[in-house]
Amino acid sequence: MNIQEIRHPLIRHKLGLMRRNDISTKNFRELAQEIAALLTYEATKDMPVESHAIDGWCGKVEVEKLAGKKITVVPILRAGLGMLDGVLSLIPSAKVSMIGLVRNEETLEADTYLQKLVNELHQRRALIIDPMLATGGSMIATIDMLKRAGAHEIRALVLVAAPEGVKRVNEAHPDVEIFTASVDQRLNEHGYIIPGLGDAGDKIFGTR
Ligand code: PRP
Ligand code: URA
Repeated sequence: MNIQEIRHPLIRHKLGLMRRNDISTKNFRELAQEIAALLTYEATKDMPVESHAIDGWCGKVEVEKLAGKKITVVPILRAGLGMLDGVLSLIPSAKVSMIGLVRNEETLEADTYLQKLVNELHQRRALIIDPMLATGGSMIATIDMLKRAGAHEIRALVLVAAPEGVKRVNEAHPDVEIFTASVDQRLNEHGYIIPGLGDAGDKIFGTR
């Protein structure tokens, strides 16, 4: 399976705090951004770099910089916005592509209401961000859109994933690597992740 569960002690601690039923909006929001930054660190470990010479304090010095076009971060609205600042704290010059999807809670199908992508996607690594990968419908719809627009180097960062959703995404898009803080137990009959986090969008935006 093309998934990396990042079992770093800081991530495990922070995710444990996020699972508390009495967590405040403020704390949930902060922890989502912090875990997003830690997942970003892992998902960018193999980014290509190139050498170039700069003027240092004692003369010319060879240093390295990220090679190629800037990354695009792709939050799946709305809940994906809750990870954006965490990603941008490590990649401040990334370009942001927005995809608006909402899951129909009857059919569990994802409906698209916004697509605003940056240009030259074929030359950029795309990092999709969404706290929850449940049935995988929203993630597959997003990857389909990005590929139609030319992207071919795509990774996904999710706080919590259900095994059922990971399997579906892997089958539909085996080239897309998923980074997560936890692969949880299962989906319930309403398509919610168990134990999961509940409704992540509601918790980030205080609409629960
Ligand atoms: C949630 C979540 C994912 C999606 C996951 O969004 O943030 O985008 O559901 O479910 P899936 O894997 O079964 O597609 P939701 O549709 O609740 O919208 P929101 O972000 O606006 O709250
Ligand atoms: N969306 C959420 O916010 N949580 C889930 O567990 C499933 C979908």
